[in-house]
Amino acid sequence: MTYDLDHHGDAELAPGLTDLAVNVRAGTPPPWLRAVLHRAVDDVAAYPDAGPARAAVAAAHGRPPEEVLLAAGAAEVFVLVARVLAPRRAVVVHPSFTEPEAALRAAGHPVERLVLEAPGYRLDPAAVPDDADLVVLGNPTNPTSVLHPAGAVAALARPGRVLVVDEAFADTVPGEPESLAGRRDLPGVLVVRSLTKTWGLAGLRVGCALGPAELVALLAAAQPHWPVSTPALAALTACTTPAARAEADAAAVELAAHRAALLAALPAGVEVAGEPRSSFVLLRVPDGARVRAELRARGWAVRRGDTFPGLDADHLRVAVRDPGTSRAFAGDLAEILGPPSPTSRTAPPVPEEIR
Ligand SMILES: Cc1ncc(COP(=O)(O)O)c(C=O)c1O
Repeated sequence: MTYDLDHHGDAELAPGLTDLAVNVRAGTPPPWLRAVLHRAVDDVAAYPDAGPARAAVAAAHGRPPEEVLLAAGAAEVFVLVARVLAPRRAVVVHPSFTEPEAALRAAGHPVERLVLEAPGYRLDPAAVPDDADLVVLGNPTNPTSVLHPAGAVAALARPGRVLVVDEAFADTVPGEPESLAGRRDLPGVLVVRSLTKTWGLAGLRVGCALGPAELVALLAAAQPHWPVSTPALAALTACTTPAARAEADAAAVELAAHRAALLAALPAGVEVAGEPRSSFVLLRVPDGARVRAELRARGWAVRRGDTFPGLDADHLRVAVRDPGTSRAFAGDLAEILGPPSPTSRTAPPVPEEIR
C-alpha cells in the first residue's frame, strides 16, 4: 500500500467550497494579532532579534531559553530532525500527520510505521520497538483527534532515543492536560509546537520546539541565520502572553462544545473514530469516495483519509466549525447517505489533483 505523504488538506479547497478540510481555527488571526503583525512590518529593515521571543516561549513553558528552538513552523523542525539526526531505527506512529515521515524519507532514512488500531487508535507504549532510537508521534493526533495520556507518551522516552512529540494541536485541548512541553525530566523528548492552527498563522510560518539544550543546539546549528522573520517573532511573543494563552484556552473550551454539536448532528451510518479531542473529527462512512465527491458537489470540502497510513477512502476528516455550519453539513451528509431521492444531483467527478 502506498500513500501520498505530500498530500495536505489545503489541496482539497476550491473557490465556493466551505472549508472543513484544513484545521485552522475559523475567524483567525484575531484583530489584535493582525495589529501586532502590521506593527512588526515597520521593523523589518533590521535583521530579526530572536532573543525576546525565545525568552517569552521559554518562560511560558517553564524552561530556560537554551531549551527552545524557534523555527519556520513545525514543518521546519521535522526537516531539521531528519537532516541532523542519523537514526538507526526510526519509528513513526500512524495514522498521523505525514510530514515527519516524508522529511525522514527525503533525508534518506528508512522509516518503520507503527499503525495504531481502529476504532480507538490508542497508543500502547509496549508496541514501540525497544531499540527504536527515533520515535515520532502526534498528541493530540492528526487525523484521529485522539489525545494520548501524557503517561503513555512519557513512557516512550529513554536515554539513547529522541522522542518527537508533535503537539501542533495541543492548545486545542482546554488546559493542555497531556502536554509534555514543560517536562524537563524526560530524556530526549522534543516537543514540537505551532502557531498555525489556533492563531490562524499558516502563511506566516512560525513554530517552535522544546527539548534538551544539546539537542536544540544541534538542530539550531543546521538552520540558516535568522530563520524566523521579525513578524513571526512578534507573533510568537504576543501569543505567549498570559492574556493570549487565556484566549486560546477559552477558544479550546468553546471548541469542545462545538465538537459535541457536530458529533450530535451526525447521521446514522457514520462511525466516529476514537474519542475526538481536537479541532477535527475522523469519520468513517460507507463508499467514502462517492460521499466525498457528493459533499463537494454540495459545497463542502472535507479532508480525504486515504493518504494517511492506516486509513482508507472511507475515512474523512472533518474540521469542527460553529454548530450552524456543522448541522448544515450533517444534514447534507444524511441526505447523501440516505436512500437516493429523485431530486438529488449527480456528483461531478472528483478532480485529478484531489483524487
Ligand atoms: C499535526 C500537525 N503538525 C504540524 C503541522 C505543521 O505545522 P506548521 O504550520 O507549524 O508547520 C500540521 C499542519 O497541518 C499538523 O497537522
